[in-house]
Amino acid sequence: MKYHQVLVVGGGLAGMRAAVACNRRNIKVGLLSKIHPVRSHSTSAQGGINAAMNNHVRGKHDDVMRHAFDTIKGSDYLADQDAVVKFTADAPHRIIEMENWGVPFSRNEEGKIAQRPFGGAGFPRTCYAADRTGMYLIQTLWEQVCKYTEASMREEMVIYDEWVCLKIIVEKNKAVGVVAWNLAEGKLEIFKADAIIMGTGGIGRIYSNTSNALTNTGMGMALAYWAGVPLKDMEFVQFHPTTLKGNNCLMTEGCRGEGGYLLNDKGERFLANYPDSSVAMEIAPRDIVSRNITREVMAGRGINGQDYVYLDLRHLGAEKIMTRLPGIRDLAMNFVGVDPITQPVPIQPGHHYTMGGIDVNENAATPVEGLYAAGECACVSVHGANRLGGNSLLETIVFGAIAGESAVKYIEDGGKTGDVSKTLEKGKKEVEDKILSIFESKGDEDPSLIREELQKVMAEKVGVFRNEKDLKAAHTKVQELRDRYKKIKIMNTSGLKFNQDLMWNMELEGDLDIAETIVAGALNRKESRGSQSRTDFPVRDDKNWLHHSTFTYTPKGAKLGKKKVTLGYFKPKERTY
Ligand code: FUM
Repeated sequence: MKYHQVLVVGGGLAGMRAAVACNRRNIKVGLLSKIHPVRSHSTSAQGGINAAMNNHVRGKHDDVMRHAFDTIKGSDYLADQDAVVKFTADAPHRIIEMENWGVPFSRNEEGKIAQRPFGGAGFPRTCYAADRTGMYLIQTLWEQVCKYTEASMREEMVIYDEWVCLKIIVEKNKAVGVVAWNLAEGKLEIFKADAIIMGTGGIGRIYSNTSNALTNTGMGMALAYWAGVPLKDMEFVQFHPTTLKGNNCLMTEGCRGEGGYLLNDKGERFLANYPDSSVAMEIAPRDIVSRNITREVMAGRGINGQDYVYLDLRHLGAEKIMTRLPGIRDLAMNFVGVDPITQPVPIQPGHHYTMGGIDVNENAATPVEGLYAAGECACVSVHGANRLGGNSLLETIVFGAIAGESAVKYIEDGGKTGDVSKTLEKGKKEVEDKILSIFESKGDEDPSLIREELQKVMAEKVGVFRNEKDLKAAHTKVQELRDRYKKIKIMNTSGLKFNQDLMWNMELEGDLDIAETIVAGALNRKESRGSQSRTDFPVRDDKNWLHHSTFTYTPKGAKLGKKKVTLGYFKPKERTY
């Protein structure tokens, strides 16, 4: 059995930032990640990270309350306003901290950190490092992590990379440890911890059309859900307007922030034709732009009548593209053979982010004692029904640090896991039995088909626009797939050493249960708000629906509930841009 005061599950930006926060206060940490931390999906974040840096642009001044207002308005008033104010107030300090640690932010003419316009923001507020912001943040945080590991002879942090968490163990509503799988050695281990922080990222791979990495499965959120922590606001799924046609690689919002156009088959900047985007145009918020692209496609004005439009950067010129958007150029050239300097890029909306997640408060604490969560796997909520671009990277470093500090405080105040060996052994036995039942299954269901059918139904029926008929059909389908999952037969039953077949298919159970919450939530919420656009209930209904949705695990499917939204700073009003 291994023991750490704090165990962080997930090695992306939120997980690493949480681990660093603990180590800076002399708390010993284990950082467990199913891939090497620098390969985490945070690396692929492109366009930037928001913070009101107290700047003036053309007579306008930015401050943290403006950032809070834009975030709350962008959330369609479903964000918890106290949490948002805490979030935006912490932002400038966190940016400077990352800069001091070495992030090579792009610069403006005055030598200050450059900021570009992003959707739904009333000020150019998105700090960036060309179009590889996530990659630079991850590399920089990794250096901080290395300061505390064995490599630095300090041994205050132990990295477990290529270890997969399979279960969170809870005793009397207190998180006491996890069962994890060492892929390289093919062994299961128990980790005992005084506090556990989840930073497992998003769940995009339950959709076929996602910008997310292959590693972004439903498992991270499902681990907490299965351990008795409610999920929150799962129906709110973000579709990024500009993902590459076909493979849905992200084409950063920074392209539009730098002045890129969206064009339909007639060569028109069609956003001008829709009242909700005719002023902000390409930098209207993501939910609005995704809907209007989808409307163009549905009206037959996609390029050659197909399911995509053009992102046109040609007028920006070669120099701007090469210095501010070099990664976008590489992706477009490598994946669709298009050079944005001379040709428009084919794009379509794709799944990008989940506003919902593990229910936590503004201190990153779940309702289970000693269990915290931060980053995309968590729902504070600061994004409500629609996240603004650039607020996701910010969430990782703000709430990653807060989760670490909360865990430290919990331990300093006496939070400790006592002798729970029987519970931990029981948890390990349950995981062993589950694996054995998969290895010895007499079933005949091919799990890869179940995954494919799940991804397809989510993309087709739980997308940008939703309606009762489609959602009911999707729910029936997901429940059918959950039943079929019980009879899966995997191909590699040789053991645990690097058994990717087993890993993917254990994660598939998480995908199915998380998909079920999304569909159930979307079906339940009879209104349109932010990313949830119901064609049968097209209007926002604050009287009946200005509340969070909660989802509690039961073997039959989620039990739905509600939770109050914290208002107090800005009164809900019609959201116009
Ligand atoms: O478009 C982008 O660069 C993505 C940013 C984000 O999701 O925050």
